[in-house]
Amino acid sequence: MTRACPLPPPPTPPRRSPRPDPCRPRRLNPRPAPRVPADPFTQGSKVLVVGSTGGVGQLVVAKLLDAGYVVRAVTRDLDAARGLFGSQSDGPNLELRVADLRDADALAASGICVGVDAVVSCVGTTAFPSARWRDDNGPERTDFVGVRNLVNAVEAQSPGRCKRFVLVSSIGVERTSQMPFLILNLFGVLKHKRAGELALMKSGVPFTVLRPGRLTDGPYTSYDINTLLKATSGTRRAVDLVEGDTLTPEETSRIAVADCAVASLGTQLAENRAFCLGTREGTGPGNDEGEWEKLFASA
Ligand SMILES: NC(=O)c1ccc[n+]([C@@H]2O[C@H](COP(=O)([O-])OP(=O)(O)OC[C@H]3O[C@@H](n4cnc5c(N)ncnc54)[C@H](OP(=O)(O)O)[C@@H]3O)[C@@H](O)[C@H]2O)c1
Repeated sequence: MTRACPLPPPPTPPRRSPRPDPCRPRRLNPRPAPRVPADPFTQGSKVLVVGSTGGVGQLVVAKLLDAGYVVRAVTRDLDAARGLFGSQSDGPNLELRVADLRDADALAASGICVGVDAVVSCVGTTAFPSARWRDDNGPERTDFVGVRNLVNAVEAQSPGRCKRFVLVSSIGVERTSQMPFLILNLFGVLKHKRAGELALMKSGVPFTVLRPGRLTDGPYTSYDINTLLKATSGTRRAVDLVEGDTLTPEETSRIAVADCAVASLGTQLAENRAFCLGTREGTGPGNDEGEWEKLFASA
């Protein structure tokens, strides 16, 4: 079967082998340098990652770079981003930009979406009131208004160029009257995530919505990209991927969410679909694109 690829493929890599078995001893020598395009701004596919310093976002950035993409990582805290991404910060394949998604005018002025081939949004805040809600950074402004602003900015700044917008959302967005989502949605987080999803789905931008359950693995702190890439879920790497909003997994590894987000960019099987995602005991797809294709096909 010929596979259509909606994005210009990353220019360098030969096909990657699956993630190594965590039970086998790891090599002690440093990981080889990532496969990088010779001229990232003309040859590489450029992916905008928002929420790049968060638990899923940091893994998405690392995995995109490892796969040969050029990344523009959006943060509200440059120091935090530089601490996470180490020596690759502001290197030829990783550009750090500052933006707050709640401010539509600033987003328009920033031009952060200019020239992007794809977007991965990992933004979010807490479901219940916390310090992270300060300055009106609760679910409505983050998961709905922020995402809607970003969709508008993509349409305005990269018309026709952005071929995929991957949105990390949540299970339960279509089941808010059922337990346990009724409780989780007490302050509206699922309602606003759903509104963010709909803003994306109604736009003309091709999308993939990922709906994980309770997240495990990460966030990781004070690392660099090579260290982030070594993170594993141990023996709980099997993935359940189901279209719609019917799956209620016990947990979802952030590592699997990041692998899924990166893999989804390379296949039309993931285009304009929303998936619940869970992880459990067993072997999983890791970063093997062929294994993810099978999961998208059977979802
Ligand atoms: N935690 C769970 O169990 C769970 C379950 C299901 C779904 N999810 C969803 O999965 C996604 C990833 O979760 P996570 O725990 O990995 O994320 P996280 O660590 O909470 O990171 C969230 C990211 O969003 C950024 N952000 C928040 N408000 C922003 C704004 N106004 N403008 C720009 N960036 C903003 C944060 O940046 P700052 O550091 O600057 O705040 C941070 O980088 C989120 O959408 C989350 O809601 C989580």
